[in-house]
Amino acid sequence: MSFLGVNVDHVATLREARGTYEPDPVWAAVEAQLGGADLITIHLREDRRHICDRDLRLMMQTVSVPLNLEMSLHEEIVAVALEVHPPMITVVPERREELTTEGGLDVQAEVERISEVVKRFKDNGTKVSLFIDPEIGQINACRETGADMIELHTGPYAGSSGEKRAREIDKLTRGAAHGRKQELVVNAGHGLTYNNVPGIVETIKPCELHIGHSVIARSVFTGIRAAVEEMKDVIQKTLLMKG
Ligand code: PXP
Repeated sequence: MSFLGVNVDHVATLREARGTYEPDPVWAAVEAQLGGADLITIHLREDRRHICDRDLRLMMQTVSVPLNLEMSLHEEIVAVALEVHPPMITVVPERREELTTEGGLDVQAEVERISEVVKRFKDNGTKVSLFIDPEIGQINACRETGADMIELHTGPYAGSSGEKRAREIDKLTRGAAHGRKQELVVNAGHGLTYNNVPGIVETIKPCELHIGHSVIARSVFTGIRAAVEEMKDVIQKTLLMKG
């Protein structure tokens, strides 16, 4: 089984484009759940460029599947997350200039700092996932921090083709196997689409897939509920045929 986490940040981006109240990402989360999303993901960025504190707080009250909060280690964001108490957080690197998350966390370089944050969240009853590139050193460092899960960065796989893509799959497959050996739950995400998700499902068999852009892009034409149903269908058919 691969669970589907749907990231609804883009709906908030559209709202913020006009600085108005619509479209509401809280409604999007409801629609995604009706389409079968197993988790809802939002990224509360330091600059609040899309999701804002009100969205997070309302979703904590209204989302009935686990809410996964993507966040940096910025102290103000850590404080909000500890107070709001989501069931799951995913720690990501964050740069103001980036369009979306670029590259995985350098856990090896910051084991102590990350371990301290992981402990604060785990003591608070929140599961912690670390978003990383599929490198053995990073995976070992994640294990050292006490994190529950890793999310392997599938962006380079999504952005490549031919032999380069085959090499990315190989790295991800070895990373996933090593992560499981380290007793980490292995998730995957970034850049996944209706076309390229089967390649990840059949090789890595992640516990959770985290997908935003492709689902929200399709929803412009089909509505969010149908777009999520369709992505679940692609995942389930891949598992049935190749799982
Ligand atoms: N996983 C992580 C850690 C991310 O930062 C993002 C982007 O917010 C995603 C998954 C989803 O990526 P995409 O929008 O390309 O599907």
